Amino acid sequence: MNCEKRIVLTGFMGVGKSSVARHLAYLLRCEKIDLDNLIEGSEHRKIAEIIDADGEAIFRRIETENLKRALNKTNVRILSLGGGTWTQAENRELIRQHGMTTIWLESNFSHCWNNIRFSWKDRPLARNKRSAQKLFDARQELYCLADWHFIVKPDHTSFDVARQIAEEVFS
Ligand code: S3P
Repeated sequence: MNCEKRIVLTGFMGVGKSSVARHLAYLLRCEKIDLDNLIEGSEHRKIAEIIDADGEAIFRRIETENLKRALNKTNVRILSLGGGTWTQAENRELIRQHGMTTIWLESNFSHCWNNIRFSWKDRPLARNKRSAQKLFDARQELYCLADWHFIVKPDHTSFDVARQIAEEVFS
């Protein structure tokens, strides 16, 4: 397998980016970083606390700083983003400049929303269905800018998706 390639996983909240990244790192024996985890570690606060206390604009600044840190770790081959990271033009440019291959994990809104609803993770930008749906609709055209596009069906496990990516992108 070609483990030289470095990839970022993007896609809407609840699509399973972090789980797919974990399985992919296992399958490829590669280092991975989950950007939200990196942020929480460096800020010593949960993402929801940052957004609730400081607002989304400050969160985006912190996110971009941590994205730079993650991209500069050249041993890391797999990076799972937060759902909004890729929607920022500056972040897309940074990712391109670092030669990363981007993969959009796409699913329909009801699949993502079900995962959001039943998740332990507090997502301030998706606390109600209407605002989550609005964000989902607005972001589709930006996720489309990714290099690869994998459709995640509700009956696919995150391991299935990781295996498919390992075969198609890394073989
Ligand atoms: C966000 C997605 C979240 C997290 C933050 C904002 C977004 O990550 O970064 O709550 O704007 O879509 P997940 O996509 O991992 O839930």
